[in-house]
Amino acid sequence: MIKFGYLYKEGVWIMKKKLLSVLLAAVMLIGVLAGCSKTTGMNQDKFVKACGKLKLTELDIDELDEIEENIEDGFCFSGDEELIEGYSKVLDTYLELTKLSKAFESDDIVSVSFAGKCAGYDDLKDLDDLEDAELDGAFAFQMNFGQKDKAEEFMKGVENILKKVNIKTKKLSSKEYYVSKNEGYLRLHIDIEQLCQMILDDDDLMDSMKNKYDVDLEDTLENLKGDIALSVEIKGSNVFIFAGGAVNSEKKVYKDFVKAFGLANDPMSLPMNEDVADDLTDLVGTYVKYLSKVRNTKKTITDKIVNPDKTDKTDKTDKTDKTDNKPDTRGIKGSGKVGISMPTKDLMRWYDDGSNMKDELEALGYTVDLQYAGNRVDTQVQQIQNMINSGCDVLVVAAIESSSLVQVLENAKAKDVTVIAYDRLIFNTEAVDYYATFDNYMVGQLQGRYIVEALDLVNGNGTYNIEITAGDPTDNNAALFYSGAMDVIKPYIDSGKLKVLSGQTDFKDVATDSWKTETAQARAENILAAYYPNGTKIDAWLCSNDSTACGVINALNKFYDGNYPIVTGQDCDILSVKYIIAGKQAMSVFKDTRTLVSQTVVMVSQVMNDQTVDVNDTVTYNNGKKDVPSYLCAPIFVTADNYRTILIDSGYYTDDQIGY
Ligand code: BGC
Repeated sequence: MIKFGYLYKEGVWIMKKKLLSVLLAAVMLIGVLAGCSKTTGMNQDKFVKACGKLKLTELDIDELDEIEENIEDGFCFSGDEELIEGYSKVLDTYLELTKLSKAFESDDIVSVSFAGKCAGYDDLKDLDDLEDAELDGAFAFQMNFGQKDKAEEFMKGVENILKKVNIKTKKLSSKEYYVSKNEGYLRLHIDIEQLCQMILDDDDLMDSMKNKYDVDLEDTLENLKGDIALSVEIKGSNVFIFAGGAVNSEKKVYKDFVKAFGLANDPMSLPMNEDVADDLTDLVGTYVKYLSKVRNTKKTITDKIVNPDKTDKTDKTDKTDKTDNKPDTRGIKGSGKVGISMPTKDLMRWYDDGSNMKDELEALGYTVDLQYAGNRVDTQVQQIQNMINSGCDVLVVAAIESSSLVQVLENAKAKDVTVIAYDRLIFNTEAVDYYATFDNYMVGQLQGRYIVEALDLVNGNGTYNIEITAGDPTDNNAALFYSGAMDVIKPYIDSGKLKVLSGQTDFKDVATDSWKTETAQARAENILAAYYPNGTKIDAWLCSNDSTACGVINALNKFYDGNYPIVTGQDCDILSVKYIIAGKQAMSVFKDTRTLVSQTVVMVSQVMNDQTVDVNDTVTYNNGKKDVPSYLCAPIFVTADNYRTILIDSGYYTDDQIGY
């Protein structure tokens, strides 16, 4: 029955103390506010591992009665439906408190795991004590929704909240969070002092707090300091919320937390605004109410935890049918002609993108003209012009060069043809209507983070040699991959933990024309010969994609005797997957082109049927003429440990294809 549970056994219990502190309350509020997030392959294993790193040790639920007095007015649980049923009141209270109840009901959840630790709560008798208290804590919370559409519902709520707190207008979008169907992530750093100041500065809020809840928090808020790191991730029907931080004390837990969950050193700051402060105030109010409720019903709740009474579970008779009757635009049949312009057949991903999209569109009844341009800009322009002349209603274009399609797309616009930029943004023209892509900056971040973790740069004192190979300078994505990765590794280059013996770190110096394997190989050979002679070790080679990674690996095969360094990549091309299995390449970023293709097909159908087109980012991708409404999908990374689950079990490749 019990899946797993975690408990901090060094002294203080999970959520043991008199209060669910404002720290946690704020964290949870922000979690709900900011909602959720980009999934970087977060899964139960990572949850378990990170809990372990935070010293949240496993709890055998059968031990609960021995530790009854430790639970007091807090709770912890982990289990499936049956257990949840027993604890439903507790769970409902928790969801209410954290406002998660707005997003879903406990009926929708089939399993829950909660882990946490706190310190310093002993001296906390009421909220006024907070200003002197030195608190720290961390928690991890995982829920599994029974039905996938519940996760979708949750994501919709998240998006609404994100809009409300105006995160997008603060330009935090693609880097800091990602929301897509069933998937998302968000990583934030919350500065408690700043948050408190925000509330203090708002007289209305302070008044409403006083009137509504009969609490006056002025002194307390004035003196609160601290930092919280928060990560919310959604994958399929799983929701993971992790938070850690400190109030008024050492930032150790914050740091531990950031480390354990592999967040960047400093997750992005949450932009404070009135809505955030407003909701926080509301939450603190709920919390205050909860406190008094807990004090009165402490015993009952404890009993519930230890001896769940199934006959006394919360009444769930309100069975309002919540079925979403909105039309599903996916799979809508249609007629009309679609032109698909892909850069080249030579790279497996583009070949697959084109042919899969053609198949899906034809299955829906559309006529399709699919062309590959052999990586030649003039050919691509000519092919697109032919598509316009032959009466295409929609064009899906993966540009070879981001800025070379201005004139031909003006011609498309003149004929009312809708243009969807595919994977690569098209620049300097108003004629691009939509952009369907993966979060390109995040691709680079995944590569950078992988290196940081593999070399243990956060904790370790070692110094390592690294070289960098980026993509085609005329491809806008290449710059995004590069900056995503450099934002992660540059601090270590600056501090000397990473050394680039060639001295080549600028984008222009490390770029690879046309993403060519041979070009990447030639440069890598020169670097190895000049800077890594006589056994000089190279520890990592940041490569922006698989075609350049293969060039670097070829050069290493020829000119390097040591162990293979950590080589990163992107696309999970078959050759690279083989290299990953053989230990020559450490990782590749997987952009499931089935997802991007299907999303684009939905967008095409929506255009053809005059429906609102799905987008999830309207501010990040400016092409020099306009903010292009975009749909971003989530990339994840693949290593020798997870390739089977991600690539084989999901049906992307067969064992035969990768040589097994
Ligand atoms: C794509 C990558 C690909 C590269 C080379 C980029 O625009 O986003 O997936 O590896 O082009 O074709």
